[in-house]
Amino acid sequence: MVHDLKSRLAALYLLEQILDRGQALDGAFENCCRKFSDLDQRDRAFIRFLVTTCLRRLGQLDAIINFCTPRNLTPKQVKVRHILQLGLTQLLYMEVPAHAAVDSSVRLADQQKNQSDRQLKGLVNAVLRRVDRERDVFAEKFADPFLNLPRWLRNSWIERFGKGPAHRIMPALQQEPPLDLTLKPGEDPAGWADKLGGEVTPFNGVRLARAGQVDKLPGFEEGHWWVQDLAARLPAGLLGAGPGDRVLDLCAAPGGKAAQSAAKGCRVTAVDVSEKRLRRLRENMQRLALEVEVVTADVTDYAPEEPFPYVLLDAPCSSSGTLRRHPDMAWTKTPEDVESLVALQRRVLEAAVKMLAPGGTLIYCVCSMEAGEGPDQIRTLLESGVPLNRDSIRPEEVPGLEECIGPDGDIQTLPYHYPGGMDGFYICRLKKDR
Ligand SMILES: C[S@@+](CC[C@H](N)C(=O)[O-])C[C@H]1O[C@@H](n2cnc3c(N)ncnc32)[C@H](O)[C@@H]1O
Repeated sequence: MVHDLKSRLAALYLLEQILDRGQALDGAFENCCRKFSDLDQRDRAFIRFLVTTCLRRLGQLDAIINFCTPRNLTPKQVKVRHILQLGLTQLLYMEVPAHAAVDSSVRLADQQKNQSDRQLKGLVNAVLRRVDRERDVFAEKFADPFLNLPRWLRNSWIERFGKGPAHRIMPALQQEPPLDLTLKPGEDPAGWADKLGGEVTPFNGVRLARAGQVDKLPGFEEGHWWVQDLAARLPAGLLGAGPGDRVLDLCAAPGGKAAQSAAKGCRVTAVDVSEKRLRRLRENMQRLALEVEVVTADVTDYAPEEPFPYVLLDAPCSSSGTLRRHPDMAWTKTPEDVESLVALQRRVLEAAVKMLAPGGTLIYCVCSMEAGEGPDQIRTLLESGVPLNRDSIRPEEVPGLEECIGPDGDIQTLPYHYPGGMDGFYICRLKKDR
């Protein structure tokens, strides 16, 4: 049976790996599927949806739990807290019947090794039944979506974008995002939208309302398209390289942007430090029948024989722009993590500048909404006296997405831009002096 106790056990395991051990959602989910290997595809989809929804609503859920258990839950009873978080998620934000959400949570508590956890199954029952009975009261009392963001992220967005836009970001993060596909050049967007039951999006894309099992969709196996958010599709297009041009794609794996350049006929060198992620890049290129030169190297150590006229640097970052898909980031990353990423970005950016030929174009991008990882990074670079100038992005280059261009001519997409939303991406284009 789908959604049975085993699925809940697996969901509890996954939530613990993320919240108590600081693992990232994708890796933790892979481990979870290996550990609970007899779960089928539907169970896996249920577990991922349950845990992702729980992480998106974690602040609201904890506020409800704290309200209902003022003295009863200590930090030692974190397992029971997680059982309640998952139970409430099913009750309030998923179409799981109330009796199934309550009964499975009580049974989950009853399965725990620790007697003190098992003893709290009555509490689990009482809290869930109360919230079910008074769901309208709780929905109103704990409606503020900002509860679902740690204070440092909330402050960083209010400071950078202002209260209004920051408030518009939050509801967009609560939605299950659509699945964006990038088509190979020459493919017919309207034809694929029809075949896949989606809609055409800018820059040769198709958007599907729901993800489902991607590798079973028509055209995947044959390499007609790849998965790539609409925002992530912008940097390679803005690089401006054409057929035959040499493109250096730094921090390239798993290869979405390298695929865009290679599909246009550019001669692409893709560099990444992670051999594991480069394996995925190679698999992707093989499926798409695209040729890319692959280099395993740390960007700060890499020294190409000749500088490149086009360099794209998609730097490692906090990924705060992808919170719709990876809500774990809000609870696993800290301001200190962002600070060390900013330092790493600075080093890879300086290295990228050295690999750029005179007169060449550099795109710097991050899937982040943090000022320190985006505009501040570029300001520091330009103030350091490098022979580079900003090459402002013009509205006619991004038809339909003009609102994403800031006063400096950089792009910052936000999750509420474009109907159905998109990831938050910062993109800056620079030109080197001749
Ligand atoms: C945002 S992801 C890149 C996504 C990729 N550009 C795409 O379009 O599919 C960042 C990548 O940076 C790589 N990375 C992190 N530090 C690096 C370094 N010092 N040198 C090279 N690659 C690095 C990571 O392994 C990761 O694959």
